[in-house]
Amino acid sequence: MDYKEIPILKGLMDYSKENNAYFHMPGHKGGNAFRKIGFEAFDVDLLSMDVTEVAGIDNLHCPEAAIKEAQELAAQAFGAQHTFFLVNGTTCGIYSMILAAANPGDKIIIPRNCHKSVTGAVILGRLQPIYINPELDSKFNFASGISPAAVQKAIQEHRDAKAVVITSPTYYGVCSDLEQIARIAHENNMLLLVDEAHGAHFAFHGELPKTALQCGADVVAQSTHKTLPSMTQSSMLHVRSNKVDIDRLKLFLQLTQSTSPSHILLASLDSARYIMQQKGEELLNDVIYWCNWLRNEVNSNENLRCLSKADIGRAGIFDIDSTRITVNFAKSGLSGTKADELLRSKFKLQVEMADLSNIVAICTVGDSIDSIKKLANDIKTLAQDSTAYNNDGESQEIKAFKNIPEMKLLPWEAVYQAKEEVPIENSQGRICGEMIIPYPPGIPIIMPGEIISRDIIDYSLECRSKGIKINGAKDASLKYITTIK
Ligand SMILES: Cc1ncc(COP(=O)(O)O)c(C=O)c1O
Repeated sequence: MDYKEIPILKGLMDYSKENNAYFHMPGHKGGNAFRKIGFEAFDVDLLSMDVTEVAGIDNLHCPEAAIKEAQELAAQAFGAQHTFFLVNGTTCGIYSMILAAANPGDKIIIPRNCHKSVTGAVILGRLQPIYINPELDSKFNFASGISPAAVQKAIQEHRDAKAVVITSPTYYGVCSDLEQIARIAHENNMLLLVDEAHGAHFAFHGELPKTALQCGADVVAQSTHKTLPSMTQSSMLHVRSNKVDIDRLKLFLQLTQSTSPSHILLASLDSARYIMQQKGEELLNDVIYWCNWLRNEVNSNENLRCLSKADIGRAGIFDIDSTRITVNFAKSGLSGTKADELLRSKFKLQVEMADLSNIVAICTVGDSIDSIKKLANDIKTLAQDSTAYNNDGESQEIKAFKNIPEMKLLPWEAVYQAKEEVPIENSQGRICGEMIIPYPPGIPIIMPGEIISRDIIDYSLECRSKGIKINGAKDASLKYITTIK
């Protein structure tokens, strides 16, 4: 069979043949998590299990049997009152939790460095976003956690807001002080909604940060597929609160999820929960131990910096996820994107994402001691081979988050306006008509309705020139930007 004319399939087959070490999602790591413990359920003929709601198979939108039972078991495992299985990723969970919490026109407090699913919900719900600036970390050049003081200030200035949304952990593994933030939100009659897309594994090991539910969050969206052994696109939404309108939440889940959910994805959520309950702590013991070993190894190289517990306490870093490996290459003379490219081409190792300064690798129960040792050795070898340079000046990324662009129109209003494309170099001062989103991490740097500043232009162009893909923009090459006419 010639697969050349089936380009997606061919791409997947080629990647699988490369035999790279996977330091990216999904958390089962090419099935290693299952093989490691002899879990053979997915080694059978998956196609024969790819069925829809025939008799005996439950219905995601009105679960009465297996899905109901599986969701209840998951709620117990994650400490929720209600758990909903998601087949459209955490994105549909985030849409639903926000749409259920606020009416059109309502204010909602969100971090400026939130994922595009949060800003997407703001557009769909016709909400007014009140942005909180994250703390900025000049050592790693990334947008970091959200301080309780910043939440308090936003609430004081907008007492009529309906909810606070926090992303914790961030893509880089930085956690915010959710206990304090929950207290502040609740004292002010607001819901705390947490995007815990990167923290589904926290519930299964005492050395990991507390879960958002343990900290008092009302609703929590988790990408099970990112850090636990479930399949891509499978996620969970947990509720632990009496203040959430469950019927309204269920309605939005029905509106944002397929009417033909994949039962294989649902079964993989159920399996991930089971595996983690049975073996999670034991498996995570090794992962955490070897990730900490890797941190020490990498940090013993003066040209590298790996995010560690020693960073806690500065720049909004309240805690870190020990399984997330964030390495800053700035002093070694490599950009994060270049390091990512070289790790793949020279060492057959694929990380999860890279930005201008850092690479981010995901370690999960699918990893082995050898794979984590390989990650450490390859990072160190790469840094040794590059030349040091002076890392002076402030990164464009930090500049872009320092000054939130002025909002002339609400995001949803801008979406419905007439638009025109202008050369990006001539766009300073114009009202933006689209989202510009370096992907990953998927954080919009400008929203529709906001004034385009020089910093935003420079940061967007720098991302583009370093090979970071741009989402949201009509012209992904960024020669042109869509503005309001
Ligand atoms: C912080 C954050 N939130 C939400 C999402 C959306 O998750 P999903 O891809 O499961 O829809 C992502 C995806 O990368 C993310 O990084």
